[in-house]
Amino acid sequence: MTTASSPIESVLVENRVFPAPAEFAAKARISGMEQYQALCAEAERDYEGFWARLARENVVWSKPFTEVLDSSNPPFFRWFADGELNASANCLDKHMGTAVEHKTAIIFEADGGEVTKVSYRELLDRVSQFANALKAQGVQKGDRVLIYMPMTIEGVVAMQACARLGATHSVVFGGFSAKAVQERIVDVGAVAVITSNYQMRGGKELPLKAIVDDALALGGCEGVRHVFVYERTATACAMVQGRDKTFGEILAGQSTDCAPVAVGAEHPLFILYTSGSTGKPKGVQHCTGGYVLWAKQTMEWTFDVRPEDVFWCTADIGWITGHTYVAYGPLAAGATQIVFEGVPTFPHAGRFWQMIERHGCSIFYTAPTAIRSLIKAADSDQAVHPSNWNLSSLRLLGSVGEPINPEAWMWYYKNVGGERCPIVDTFWQTENGGHVISPMPGATPLVPGSCTLPLPGIKAAIVDETGHELPDGAGGLLVISKPWPSMIRNIWGDPERFKKSYFPAELGGQIYLAGDGAVRSEDRGYFRITGRIDDVLNVSGHRMGTMEIESALVAKTDLVAEAAVVGRPDDLTGEAICAFVVLKRGRPSGEEARQIAKELRDWVAKEIGPIAKPKDIRFGDNLPKTRSGKIMRRLLRSIAKGEAITQDTSTLENPAILDQLAQAN
Ligand code: WT7
Repeated sequence: MTTASSPIESVLVENRVFPAPAEFAAKARISGMEQYQALCAEAERDYEGFWARLARENVVWSKPFTEVLDSSNPPFFRWFADGELNASANCLDKHMGTAVEHKTAIIFEADGGEVTKVSYRELLDRVSQFANALKAQGVQKGDRVLIYMPMTIEGVVAMQACARLGATHSVVFGGFSAKAVQERIVDVGAVAVITSNYQMRGGKELPLKAIVDDALALGGCEGVRHVFVYERTATACAMVQGRDKTFGEILAGQSTDCAPVAVGAEHPLFILYTSGSTGKPKGVQHCTGGYVLWAKQTMEWTFDVRPEDVFWCTADIGWITGHTYVAYGPLAAGATQIVFEGVPTFPHAGRFWQMIERHGCSIFYTAPTAIRSLIKAADSDQAVHPSNWNLSSLRLLGSVGEPINPEAWMWYYKNVGGERCPIVDTFWQTENGGHVISPMPGATPLVPGSCTLPLPGIKAAIVDETGHELPDGAGGLLVISKPWPSMIRNIWGDPERFKKSYFPAELGGQIYLAGDGAVRSEDRGYFRITGRIDDVLNVSGHRMGTMEIESALVAKTDLVAEAAVVGRPDDLTGEAICAFVVLKRGRPSGEEARQIAKELRDWVAKEIGPIAKPKDIRFGDNLPKTRSGKIMRRLLRSIAKGEAITQDTSTLENPAILDQLAQAN
């Protein structure tokens, strides 16, 4: 093993292999590659039998299933369809009367540092009471409830309470705009919104309820009968008589007993919006049975979670990672977990390391973007370097959301994990429900920058455009060739788009297309994700459609004539958003250009959310187009990167525009 510093590291990347530490493997559930291979072989031999076994072992069924996989109407696969269960009962009730009942379920650390703990018993009481409150307000099985909440115990309670009633939740990340909230309310057909008066982030009190008010005022939200408001802070917010009620009002007098409503395994547990390459964000619909199964199983396989662990996934509940590895997985596994309200850089960039020490965190799961920004902070200020804290409680690290560059991997490994903790680089997507390609930490030898091998039962492969499997070493399309229990069930209200996006006819119509490029190494068959193959960007681990941002820009009709958005590599955020804009008034320069760029950024923040703001905005007289009028995005990508154009430009209508755009900033 080499510990060389960065310039050499990038050269040696492929040669570094980190076998599972003996101490870790000795205690692990899956403690060697033979065990991993045995599980894969079991799935190979009897695919349905394998999944049925896991479904029986991991899920408490109120009515056992007799069918396993129903492939009669592909790609609308159904799993365990005649079985019944409740997701919340699988996270809470099942622990009652066991050693977990009085164990801490959540250690909550507020933005300002205050700590609150709840046991599984207390959490069950709070979820039940909140479910009773929702029920008393008329929320019932099958209703959709939009949740727009900060990272708090109450956010998790709201999700669990919906699940308890069989109401389908749709959580929207607190950084999305009123317009984005309104679009989701309309698309999902929400009957109620659960929100908070304010959220605390980085010492600031930010409005959430006011954004919900703006969203509802945008129209089309007549289906929303109630807005329930958690009073996170003492500051008042406007309340609409009859429509808005505080948590205190609806919880008053409600019992802490609430029988969980059994639902069919295929009942939609939640709908979570994510960006695609075209059109509006898609409502990814997940089921109950297969989802709960995989949330629990991956806690045990990927994180090898044990009763004494303190687990911390830093993702917000507004993203899939926060669904599976905050709101459901850790609870289904009976783990103690940290829920953090704030941001990694407040009050200083050592906050994560300080919290790991303070709470004795043993499994830490975060995104490469966070790691890269904390590396940068530690480089410029020794006082926030992880070495200032005692991180010896850590035994496992995880990474998620985007490729982790080997340099960041090595830094994480050495400075956070003390060269003792395996790193699980987990590849998955909103549509996957849980990890699909990831090391098993007690078994898989690690290679920095590779998510290694598919989990048992996941038939990941790399194919060409006609669906033929490619040999190791050849880059192609990442697919999952067999249905698996936690996969996306539909795009809410748009089955045609579901088929087209994920099961294209060119690949036979039954194989799941991930939308990422990947390559397998020739020596080990390890997967390395090379990035999206469509017009989806990954900025700081957040998924963003280029078309969505373009639509937002051209919606500024007083200014913008045309816009094209591409991604370019960025050291910190992975990718950065770069917008090429043609204004109605002609090309601005100097101070005017800066002013308009700011105006456009603010506009995009208002249309979608601050995370969608373009980093670069370049103004041109025109955009590079073919004679038939098609914008040549690959040329824009080169310009955004600052590369010389080497591609063929002979089909270009207006080649001179390339120089202009290359010079513009
Ligand atoms: C896209 C999915 C569910 C994870 C959170 C993001 C990229 C995710 C990795 C990884 C390389 C990764 C892919 C994927 N991605 N994890 N370990 N290595 N790339 O979920 O918002 O649905 O985004 O994130 O490009 O398609 P998401």
